[in-house]
Amino acid sequence: MKIAVVQTNPKFGDVHKNIDDAIKIMSSSPADFYVLPELFNTGYNFSNKDELEDLAEPIDGQTYTILQAYARQRQCYIVYGFAETDGIVFFNSAAMVGPEGLIGLYRKIHLFYREKLFFKKGNLGLPVFNTVFGKVGIMICFDWFFPEAMRTLTFKGSQLIAHPSNLVLPYCPDAMITRCLENKVFAATADRVGSEENTELKLSFIGKSEIINPKGEILCRLDEINEGVGIAEINLEEALNKKINEYNNLFEDRDERNYF
Ligand code: ACM
Repeated sequence: MKIAVVQTNPKFGDVHKNIDDAIKIMSSSPADFYVLPELFNTGYNFSNKDELEDLAEPIDGQTYTILQAYARQRQCYIVYGFAETDGIVFFNSAAMVGPEGLIGLYRKIHLFYREKLFFKKGNLGLPVFNTVFGKVGIMICFDWFFPEAMRTLTFKGSQLIAHPSNLVLPYCPDAMITRCLENKVFAATADRVGSEENTELKLSFIGKSEIINPKGEILCRLDEINEGVGIAEINLEEALNKKINEYNNLFEDRDERNYF
């Protein structure tokens, strides 16, 4: 499969422009599976709940409709981050759409910094979705800081972790090398660039979207400044092999009885 991480520079509140920008990048780079950043359609830096109320969408809102049409037309899959509302509360969510429609939804569990003021903690656990390429788990940005998230997705059979992000700390791109190595899975982290400033806070995002394989090798990594796309040809079957060498196996050598 050809997988792509799409690195954009969303303008806060300009949903149509942000969707158009992502579609322009996807159109220029044919792939089977795209990962877009966290909150790619709205921007990230909410200063109050009213802004979120204006911009959040239900799972079948306009962003879904546009991306699902694209996925059907191009016969591809897209994982994208968006601000979700069920009419009452707000979640920092990511959906997977394909030619056949909605495949899955994940709601971010580990909320970062001021996200805690506006979003409710995810309540769907860490689901794993079947695709024609293999099993795909989704986590969102700061979830990476908790090794349990990717470990759980791995135990549930994920071969690829789709990881929409809006990274502000510098550690994630290198840390994901270890996350992939210790779980022997692929990961595709789609980050954004640029900065957002409101009366409360200025945030700068670090880019460096990347695709990592189960050996911890960086198959592609983008820079810190530019929008763009990173593409890799991968085979998810590689992530089914948990053998480290002739004597060691990642799953069989774990020893819960001696950990506590
Ligand atoms: C983050 O979770 N957006 C840092």
